[in-house]
Amino acid sequence: MQLTILAAVLVCLSVNGYAQVDVGKKQFALCGACHSADGSAKPTGPTLKGISTRKAAADTGYKNYSKALKTSAIVWTEKELDAYLAAPSKRVPGTSMMINVTDAAKRKALIDYLKTLK
Ligand code: HEC
Repeated sequence: MQLTILAAVLVCLSVNGYAQVDVGKKQFALCGACHSADGSAKPTGPTLKGISTRKAAADTGYKNYSKALKTSAIVWTEKELDAYLAAPSKRVPGTSMMINVTDAAKRKALIDYLKTLK
């Protein structure tokens, strides 16, 4: 009996986890206009493949990084991604990324998805 409940809870937790990544994947439609998810180069923005725990401005295929991002010394932890996505030019004054994701739950889902881009 207890095992059944435990199994049910675990199933719920993992379904929930996938749902979150799924929501984030849908959110990524907002980003895909400028960023690739698969490492390919786009002139409009650096790839977000491997962004989680990467240093800021480290995509060697992208040539138009702002000086502000290049000198920011940020490492993209979950916390840094959250602050940047909430208000890029507040976290990195002078950045050329203009998209704000103001909804915290949407940011969380997006970041969960970004972490899967390896
Ligand atoms: C209109 C184009 C555009 C859209 C849409 C856009 N970005 Fe960006 N993004 C950029 C540009 C340009 C940069 C480089 C900024 C700089 O050099 O200051 C950037 C930089 C970033 C970085 C830092 C990358 C690095 O290599 O350090 C992250 C993370 C990021 N964007 C996430 C997102 C996410 C997530 C979304 C969707 C919610 C998004 N961006 C939507 C243009 C865009």
